[in-house]
Amino acid sequence: MLSKISALALLAASVSAAPAGFCQAPAPWTWEIHGFSSVCTAATCRYSFNVSGPPGPSGQPSFDASGCAGTSVQSGFKSCSQVRVDVPGDVQAQEFNHGIDIGASISVQYTFEQNGVKYTYTGNNSVAHTGNGPAVEFTIIPTEVFAVPSEA
Ligand SMILES: *[C@@H]1O[C@H](CO)[C@@H](O)[C@H](O)[C@H]1NC(C)=O
Ligand SMILES: *[C@@H]1O[C@H](CO)[C@@H](O)[C@H](O)[C@H]1NC(C)=O
Repeated sequence: MLSKISALALLAASVSAAPAGFCQAPAPWTWEIHGFSSVCTAATCRYSFNVSGPPGPSGQPSFDASGCAGTSVQSGFKSCSQVRVDVPGDVQAQEFNHGIDIGASISVQYTFEQNGVKYTYTGNNSVAHTGNGPAVEFTIIPTEVFAVPSEA
């Protein structure tokens, strides 16, 4: 017990002794998925969820989207039915089914215009199909961004 405590104390000491200017990676921009369900019949799955994002670390506007629903065979992104964002923008979703017993990748794409630039952020996460079980919550971290001049 004693040795465990001193090991922890040493660890704490070495962490606080990190050189000044050592920079911790900032927390990533994280979007929250609420009320997710994915129900499959044969080879087609039907997804449904809400998704929201806080303001991003580089001043990206927050968003709130509900009624993100579609199927794993819709091919391409589909807009959520209600999207609240303070600038011109859209939130779209897509489900890639990997098998009824395996799960799916859920992809969310957030597009908005800010200062004459149109940004497209996309992130994925893997999740099990819920079937008729309870809805689940998870997060998506955008990993891809494109920026192009927005058309006037
Ligand atoms: C999803 O959003 C709709 C519309 O805002 C709301 O009525 C519903 O309760 C939300 N569901 C979850 C699980 O947050
Ligand atoms: C999301 O997953 C799909 C299917 O696996 C893949 O084609 C796409 O590139 C992924 N997007 C990102 C941003 O990881």
